[in-house]
Amino acid sequence: MERILSGMRPTGQLHLGNYLGALKSWVDLQEEGYHCFYFIADWHALTTEYADPSQVAEYSMEIALDWMAAGLDPERSVLFLQSKVLEHAELHILLSMITPVSWLERNPTYKEIRQELKDKDLATYGFLGYPVLQAADILIYKAHYVPVGVDQLPHLELTREIARRFNHLYGPVFPEPKPKLTESPKVPGVDGRKMSKSYNNAIYLSDSPEEVWEKIRPMVTDTRRMRKTDPGEPEDCPVFDLHKALTPQDEREEIIQGCRRASIGCIECKRILYRHLMEQLDPIHERRGKFKAHPERIMEVIIEGSKRAKAEASVTMEEVRRAVKLWHP
Ligand code: TRP
Ligand code: SF4
Repeated sequence: MERILSGMRPTGQLHLGNYLGALKSWVDLQEEGYHCFYFIADWHALTTEYADPSQVAEYSMEIALDWMAAGLDPERSVLFLQSKVLEHAELHILLSMITPVSWLERNPTYKEIRQELKDKDLATYGFLGYPVLQAADILIYKAHYVPVGVDQLPHLELTREIARRFNHLYGPVFPEPKPKLTESPKVPGVDGRKMSKSYNNAIYLSDSPEEVWEKIRPMVTDTRRMRKTDPGEPEDCPVFDLHKALTPQDEREEIIQGCRRASIGCIECKRILYRHLMEQLDPIHERRGKFKAHPERIMEVIIEGSKRAKAEASVTMEEVRRAVKLWHP
């Protein structure tokens, strides 16, 4: 069975962008019968949250809850916490020995995030080494595929380069993992910008139906539609951007016509959007409600999953230690 591995950093609650952009395809891969390993990258969260890690543990459990609500099934997929599998750290240190600093410094994500998070001091060893830890996460399970968005492609390429270098120095241990690009729609937030916790424009998987409607209802629309009788242009409207991610093609065509001819109103248009949103969110809410009543069960799932992951990681580490030929009984 081919192996899939992916991870998420616990830096906040999951929103619709996380769901449509990643989580939904993780569930699909599970349904397609891959052997899936999904983990909460809490050490990776520390690379940016080290000054105040007080919320990381809480977010980790929230994410586990959202995963199960979205349909990840601990009977079929291994759901685990990175910091519970110390072997990741051991492999990370070995890989860090063979990774040239220049590879890390030219990593575009490194430069971008340092720009983006200017208020944080990210001139740390750990942050520079982020992709080395990520390589360890992936290689330790000998994953065949890693479902990621395009923004993660440079990291995956680095993983492949590190694997090649390791194999060249110590003998063939690691297969080179391939990206599995998730062709997902771009999900804008309720203000038209990219959906993000930091923009305060996100619809969370934990939002109640009322909260969702209270985010959709006041959304700004095409400013040409001052009155219901004024025609508008969907391409200039953030509501329509969300329709692109959620509403089927034929219904979207009707909206385009209706908007340009002023035959539908913006509230009606938002109601259609809300209906399609809730088609996605209703089953998630239903499961979320059930699991939320038993937080101890979520904890159990993660502890159990981490044991299973550790067993797999240990097998690879035995092979790695033998290949590197440090003292080994
Ligand atoms: N860097 C990933 C992100 O920010 C999270 C991550 C950590 C990851 N380790 C990984 C993803 C291994 C895939 C495989 O989204
Ligand atoms: Fe936007 Fe819909 Fe109103 Fe047109 S009808 S402006 S697409 S909300």
